[in-house]
Amino acid sequence: MAKTPKESLTIFTDIVLPGESNPLGNLFGGELLARMDRACSIAARRHSHAIVVTASVNHVAFNKAVPVGSVMTIEAKVSRAFRSSMEIYVDVWVEDRESQIRSKVNEGIYTFVAVDKDGKPITVPQLEPETALEKERYEGALRRKQLSLILSGKMKPTEADELRKLFIG
Ligand SMILES: CC(C)(COP(=O)(O)OP(=O)(O)OC[C@H]1O[C@@H](n2cnc3c(N)ncnc32)[C@H](O)[C@@H]1OP(=O)(O)O)[C@@H](O)C(=O)NCCC(=O)NCCS
Repeated sequence: MAKTPKESLTIFTDIVLPGESNPLGNLFGGELLARMDRACSIAARRHSHAIVVTASVNHVAFNKAVPVGSVMTIEAKVSRAFRSSMEIYVDVWVEDRESQIRSKVNEGIYTFVAVDKDGKPITVPQLEPETALEKERYEGALRRKQLSLILSGKMKPTEADELRKLFIG
């Protein structure tokens, strides 16, 4: 049975500590990637109810630095499910201490694959997006999957029909 993105929603809120910072006093990029990967892995597991592994990190934008002491929230949810793979979108926010207003600082797109106990890919439930943003992310996911497969040498550019439509209509 198909599932909705909110069923996989995973939210981490934590404070950035000095031991996790770079020499500029901002969160170290690798630490952020690890936290994003963990949140995405839980979202993929909630969607598939299976063992999941990271197949690729398709995109990460470090748009704004996150200073030590920030309260940071990471939100991940499945944006599309294919046969055994799932695309997970992860958004990163920090909140202002005084106003508590959140601003978006980073985002990432990960691909996870559901596997059995022997590490063999297995089928996952399909996804039915609900909100406008979920529908937009769902629509673009096949193009991103094709791009990721081309970059990893698993697909020929000539086979990427959805992606080619972007350039030649
Ligand atoms: C990910 C993994 C299970 C894929 O296995 P595989 O033998 O290549 O299996 P397949 O070719 O059938 O691919 C399985 C799915 O992953 C997708 N996939 C594989 N590589 C991908 C990539 N780079 N980007 C996007 N999707 C990818 C395939 O398109 C396929 O999707 P679908 O079933 O939804 O159509 C396997 O490569 C693996 O176990 N990798 C190590 C994972 C790991 O340890 N991660 C942690 C890093 S330390």
